[in-house]
Amino acid sequence: MATTKDLSRATPIIGQKAHEIQAYGHVVNMPIALGEKERRTSAENLNQLLADTITLRDLYKKHHWAVTGPTFYQLHLLFDKHACEQTEAIDTIAERIQTLGGVAIAMGADVAETTSIPRPPKGREEAPVQISRLLQAHEIILLEARSMARQAADSSDDGTNDMLVSNVIRLNETQVWFVSQHVVDVPLVHASNGHSH
Ligand SMILES: [Fe+2]
Repeated sequence: MATTKDLSRATPIIGQKAHEIQAYGHVVNMPIALGEKERRTSAENLNQLLADTITLRDLYKKHHWAVTGPTFYQLHLLFDKHACEQTEAIDTIAERIQTLGGVAIAMGADVAETTSIPRPPKGREEAPVQISRLLQAHEIILLEARSMARQAADSSDDGTNDMLVSNVIRLNETQVWFVSQHVVDVPLVHASNGHSH
């Protein structure tokens, strides 16, 4: 029976290190008929949007866990649904950055350094305060996404423009509608000026 004591070809090679192959903030050439300047500008814009969208997704998860009060169950479910939808948007934005030849921001520490969404406290807050934070974050994202979409259209980056409008702007607008309706102060049982009997 043939045996061999040399197992090197079957052994995992661990602990390998090397310099990174592309520094953050640089774009490699991609043959998608867009100039380097246009691709770099779009990638830079999208990384800001990516950091803010990851932060919003994390805010939704935090609030999904920490929510309390009479609307606990519906907010608990709604916040998780929105977190899932934002996770899809995150992947779309990140993969667009790579498509443009850029490097997508990914790690929490880098996201924290980059985001323009105010940091919430580590503890729990009341549901109306949670909702105010979410609406503020959505509006920061909508404001920048619209300006980025216009900039992308002006520089012929139609793919980025379409992604921003279809996957980011519309999603955020719809989520604002769903969340904002929970802080309209309408009566639960007695109509405010109903007939008395
Ligand atoms: Fe959950």
